[in-house]
Amino acid sequence: MRLVLLGPPGAGKGTQSAWLIDYLKIPHLSTGDMLRQAALHDDPTGLEVRQFLQAGRLVPDPIVLDIVDHRLRELDCANGYLLDGFPRTIAQAEALDTHLASEGTPLDAVLELAVDEHRLVQRLTGRGRADDRPEIVPQRLQIYRRQTAPLLNYYFHQGILRSIDGNGTTKQVQSHIKRIVDRIGANQS
Ligand code: AP5
Ligand code: MG
Repeated sequence: MRLVLLGPPGAGKGTQSAWLIDYLKIPHLSTGDMLRQAALHDDPTGLEVRQFLQAGRLVPDPIVLDIVDHRLRELDCANGYLLDGFPRTIAQAEALDTHLASEGTPLDAVLELAVDEHRLVQRLTGRGRADDRPEIVPQRLQIYRRQTAPLLNYYFHQGILRSIDGNGTTKQVQSHIKRIVDRIGANQS
């Protein structure tokens, strides 16, 4: 199964990915994790990525697309994957569509985790990640609204958007996601 998890910072993408990749036996492709890994290196790309992460700004598309393109070509992605935090711009979504079309492997669904903004701020404060600082979180939320939220319309028009209320407990959100992926699985078999 090929899935995208879409949602603002703090929506629970990482939290829900943890059980979902185990349940579906597919790899977890988190561009946030990949970029935090890249930022550990002192090469030019690492230094550039580090600056964007610390500022809570999106890393430029060419860098992200290069990393994702390599990852999608690895063998473990042959039977599906869960994309977490990618795509995040229309340009990224279009690049992904080009890749998917060339491989003949369409996405099965884009799962939107919708969470009220005050709850996002609560969830992100106190976790201790470098970009969870109080002066950076509002910036990340604004970038989501401006650059990533337009993807909801993009995937709605493709007919593959599934919106999930992400305000509940982790277990409640999990059971909602499970219902959706079970339905997709049943239609495929
Ligand atoms: P990324 O790592 O993707 O972070 P994010 O989207 O900003 O959000 P988080 O990881 O903080 O939130 P999440 O939705 O995973 O929530 P989580 O499960 O952790 O990106 C980081 C940066 O990398 C970006 O700012 C950008 O610079 C760069 N980047 C990444 N991808 C990029 C791309 N494609 N293009 C360009 N740049 C890119 O949960 C958050 C907290 O809430 C946790 O403490 C958790 O325990 C708690 N929680 C979760 N669910 C619940 C619940 N149901 N109830 C109560 N608490 C909950
Ligand atoms: Mg995350």
